[in-house]
Amino acid sequence: MPPELIPVLSRAEIEKKTKILANRISEDYHGKEVVLIGILKGAFIFLADLVRELTIPVQIDFARLASYGSNTSSSGQIRITKEIETDIRGRHVIVVEDLVDSGLTIAYILDYLKQFHPESVKVCALIDKVERREVQIPIDYAGHVVDVGFLVGYGLDFDEKYRNLPEIYHLKL
Ligand code: IMP
Ligand code: MG
Repeated sequence: MPPELIPVLSRAEIEKKTKILANRISEDYHGKEVVLIGILKGAFIFLADLVRELTIPVQIDFARLASYGSNTSSSGQIRITKEIETDIRGRHVIVVEDLVDSGLTIAYILDYLKQFHPESVKVCALIDKVERREVQIPIDYAGHVVDVGFLVGYGLDFDEKYRNLPEIYHLKL
C-alpha cells in the first residue's frame, strides 16, 4: 500500500496559529530586540512565515543538528553540524523549531547556547508532540499540540521527502 497522508493542519490553520504565536512574541518582547535561531532543516518554512508576522526588530540565524537513528525518531545521539554565527552574548534568543518530540534536540541546543551567555533563551515550536517526551523542557511558545503520529509537510520530512507540502499531514506508512 502507498503511504497515506491524513490532513492535520490546513494552510489557514497554520497561518492562524503562526499569527497567534507572533503576536504573543511581539507583545512579550515589546521594546526589545530578539535573535531567532531556526533549527535546520525542518524550521525553515515556519521561521520564514513567523518572522513576517513579528512587529519587533529581529535578527535571524540558524543551527543545524544531526541525530543518528531511524527515520521516525531521534536516537538521542545528537551532534551539531552547523554552528550559529551571531554573537548572542547578552541578547534575547528564541530557538525556533518545527516540532518538538522527545525534547532531546531542544535540550541539546539549549545546552549548546549556554556557552555564549545569552541574556535569555526561550523556545518556540509550531508543533509540540507530547507522545515521546523524554526531557521536560518548557515550550514557551507552542502553536499546536498533538499526541501521536508522524507528521510531514511545511518543512517536516520523512526521509527528506514531503518538506515542500504547504499543509501538515499525518503520514501513515
Ligand atoms: P526530538 O529531538 O525527539 O524532540 O525531535 C525533534 C526533531 O525530530 C524535529 O526537529 C524533527 O526534525 C524530527 N521529528 C520528530 N518528530 C517528527 C515528525 O513527526 N515528523 C517529522 N520530523 C519529526
Ligand atoms: Mg527538525
